[in-house]
Amino acid sequence: MDDLVALCKRRGFIFQSNEIYGGLQGLYDYGPLGVELKNNLKNSWWKSIVYNRDDVEGIDSSILTHPSVLKYSGHQETFTDPLVDCKSCGLRFREDQVPEECVGEELTEPRDFNLMFETNVGPVTDGTSTAYLRPETAQQIYINFKNVVDSTSRSLPFGIAQIGKSFRNEITPRNFIFRVREFEQMELEFFVSPGDDDLWHKKWVENRVQWWEDQGLPKDKLRLLTVTGSDLAHYSKSTVDIMYQFPHGEEELEGIANRTDYDLGSHTKNQKDLNITADVKENTESNARLAIQNNNKEWVVPYVIEPSAGVDRGVLAVLNEAYAVEDLGDNKKRTVLKLKKHLSPIKAAVVPLKRNNEDIVQLAHSIKSSLQKYQIGRVVVENTGNIGKSYRKHDEIGTPLCITIDFDSLENNTLTIRDRDTMEQKTIPLADIQQYFLDYFTDD
Ligand code: GAP
Repeated sequence: MDDLVALCKRRGFIFQSNEIYGGLQGLYDYGPLGVELKNNLKNSWWKSIVYNRDDVEGIDSSILTHPSVLKYSGHQETFTDPLVDCKSCGLRFREDQVPEECVGEELTEPRDFNLMFETNVGPVTDGTSTAYLRPETAQQIYINFKNVVDSTSRSLPFGIAQIGKSFRNEITPRNFIFRVREFEQMELEFFVSPGDDDLWHKKWVENRVQWWEDQGLPKDKLRLLTVTGSDLAHYSKSTVDIMYQFPHGEEELEGIANRTDYDLGSHTKNQKDLNITADVKENTESNARLAIQNNNKEWVVPYVIEPSAGVDRGVLAVLNEAYAVEDLGDNKKRTVLKLKKHLSPIKAAVVPLKRNNEDIVQLAHSIKSSLQKYQIGRVVVENTGNIGKSYRKHDEIGTPLCITIDFDSLENNTLTIRDRDTMEQKTIPLADIQQYFLDYFTDD
């Protein structure tokens, strides 16, 4: 983990947030390369969940959330962690995360600490303007259910997807970007007919494991954990967590829950007319019927299958998996990020052999522009004038291709392509580079 954190800072992937004023715990900023990697991971999810299917719509909802949403969802009452104080050092911890130095010290009785961040909307702060930063993106999907059904004429089964920020005032944020207070989620709420839920739950577990493998996480580092007992959320009929071996140990990467009709049943009006099976709080405020008509024109409250993944945990996992230090012999080593090419922050670096040779540099810029226009991802000109240094840098940040422009490029119209993983170099005609680039990235 320490090596990875150091690389992230040195190369501009991830920084401690608010660092110049001492930092804020549990918050991180994504730098120039981090934002590309994170966007690439999110785009891959969106393609897989929305574009490549015909049964999912996307939304992007507000972060500030009406208190009634979180009252009926159960968050106001139950979104708590048990908090203890160490009487020796005075610090506070989650009951199950007391650090070694305080084990054995006298601790206070655990008390419930609500993880939601509260704020006010507008200038009045008398209690009527309270709102919350959403603790998950899911709730806004449920409360937009009718809007999406009415505007798209969807019938079951279908899903609504969203990627966005969530906020939790974690008692003990830790392990770099693994447990933070501001993070992003990629959530799908997939609505199915009651009775079809078990089958869809199984299908989504398989789908999501395959997607993580496609992001470069090997099967043998992923494990499915069926959540049981008190670990099962109050809304869930069954939950399967995808566990990954993070640098600090095996932990949850994504959860796939069968949330039954709890969510739509909690937020709907006319609850009594809708045969809701889940144990929901009586809703006296909602103005929308969150149900859908089946083939017999009966109103049904759909069950929900929810694959919910953390973007930041995903970034940590793919970085961890890609990070390698290779022995090159002769006491030489190289650090390389073997990211899947669709995730690489920079797709290709065009490297002029001589930084001060105008013709070479100009040609490098024109090749960069011609590749950039395909919008496959970022292409840069790396004009350090030191080929070895440029290769080392781009190995370390995971750039799959380095394209070197030298005197042969001017005289013989050729250029050299170097592959990050094999370090092999090959010379191709200059005129072929666009097709080479396209072929290389479109077979991913
Ligand atoms: N809507 C369901 C839900 O939010 P969750 O298990 O609480 O379920 C889903 O969160 C995913 O969000 C987790 O599997 C994890 O990847 C990510 N996540 C949750 N809390 C997080 C935190 N404090 N920091 C980073 N990621 C977090």
